[in-house]
Amino acid sequence: MIGQADRGNGEDHGSWFEPTLITRSGKKIKLTDIKWKKAKGGWGKTLVNKDCTGKPLARHDGTAVPFGIGTHAPSTIQFNRLPKDVVRFQAYGGLSAGGRNGSVEFYVNSNGQGAKAGTAKIPEGPHATPNAPIILPHVAVKSLVALDAAAECVKAIGGANEQGALWALRHMHNDTAVDGLIAKLSSAIDSETRQRLALTLVRLIHHEKPYDGSTWWGTRPDTRGPYYYPTPWAGTDKIKAALLAAFKSGDPALQYVIATLSEKDRAPIQGLPKATAVAAAPTANEPTVDLEKIKNQKGQVGKMGVEDVILALGKVQGDPARGMALFTRQGCVACHTLREGEPLKGPFMGQIGSIMKRDQIAMSILKPTAVISQGFKTVQIQTKKGQVFVGFVSKRLSDLVEIRDISGRITALKPADIASEKILDISMMPAGLVNGLSLEEFASLVSFLERQKK
Ligand code: HEC
Repeated sequence: MIGQADRGNGEDHGSWFEPTLITRSGKKIKLTDIKWKKAKGGWGKTLVNKDCTGKPLARHDGTAVPFGIGTHAPSTIQFNRLPKDVVRFQAYGGLSAGGRNGSVEFYVNSNGQGAKAGTAKIPEGPHATPNAPIILPHVAVKSLVALDAAAECVKAIGGANEQGALWALRHMHNDTAVDGLIAKLSSAIDSETRQRLALTLVRLIHHEKPYDGSTWWGTRPDTRGPYYYPTPWAGTDKIKAALLAAFKSGDPALQYVIATLSEKDRAPIQGLPKATAVAAAPTANEPTVDLEKIKNQKGQVGKMGVEDVILALGKVQGDPARGMALFTRQGCVACHTLREGEPLKGPFMGQIGSIMKRDQIAMSILKPTAVISQGFKTVQIQTKKGQVFVGFVSKRLSDLVEIRDISGRITALKPADIASEKILDISMMPAGLVNGLSLEEFASLVSFLERQKK
């Protein structure tokens, strides 16, 4: 699909150049060799190897293109059935030679199958694969936001696409979105819809402060969300007023949503009682996984997505005493010390609980490469004689560089003997160490580490 990026005030001769399908085995198939089901463009014709005026297809700068599809935005080209085993689509898009001052956007959409990410085997285990079904909705939401589709999203509330519409609206800080949501909030009858609208509005109370270069990040990411610097904007006051009015309507479930979320999102509303003072009302359609049933199943951690493991950790407490035994049994002691004074091979765990929160500890174990600790970047040094060392730099002086490998062995090198040095994007901590554990066991291990405080 090709859209007009600027409401069509140029010659939007958008075209697909060298569109190619790639099969699992790497075979390339020209998309132009396949018949489409439907193709339409906003002006002129939609043609194979020609632009929308019928001239041979060429890029904006005049360079001929070996194959492609010429059309004019807004355009949709639909293929019904692609050859078996197609796993990727590759193309580049741009204006063809006739397009002057045009501005177009390209979209590729598939019925879910093709958009799945990461079919390749990843040694980290299944939790390393992002939640595939979320990718397509995510792209759709991004597109709605980029297209400024607030009015359309407000219209979709109450229909089949409500969930996606509200998701997109959470990112739209403008009057159309806010006024539309407030109007729906005061007119919606059922409590559940009102709760969903309130949730969306709470998110819009603030926006992110534009980055002005005056602050710096800490060594630990701030994961409280939804914004690093919750900052009021022109819509803040009317959203707060509307939420306060909705709170006063007296629906306990709605009151609970507003009070807890505004607290969680650090968006206090004057006149609202503390969240703890508002009776918890169970939300009706929270997905229910029976954690009690699965929490003792061996190997459960390796089977679940990383987000789900972390969610489960919020509910399964675990037993720190058992965690201590697991710290030894799972081999963590080979690299992590708990007492000061022992030679370090990896980060010291004796005070990890003061530095990292439960989720962050869990994440560091599940996906070591995602966040690599300061000072433990894996470095590869090659000497002029051709020796290669991989480890951490434990000392760096003007006449001495010490590199410590994972077994704890330290090698002292002279800076003058070093030919090259580079940081590897990998953690020295192996992935998958806890894949064989049950949720209960993993929670125990994390709880044990959480208690390691100074
Ligand atoms: C082969 C060595 C090795 C083993 C075994 C190992 N780790 Fe690690 N671990 C590291 C290294 C190196 C880092 C620092 C690099 C990084 O952050 O990925 C690290 C980082 C961590 C961190 C983050 C610490 C911080 O300050 O950011 C945690 C938590 C952790 N490991 C827990 C564990 C647990 C629990 C186990 C056992 C299941 C374990 N590790 C096994 C080497 C190891």
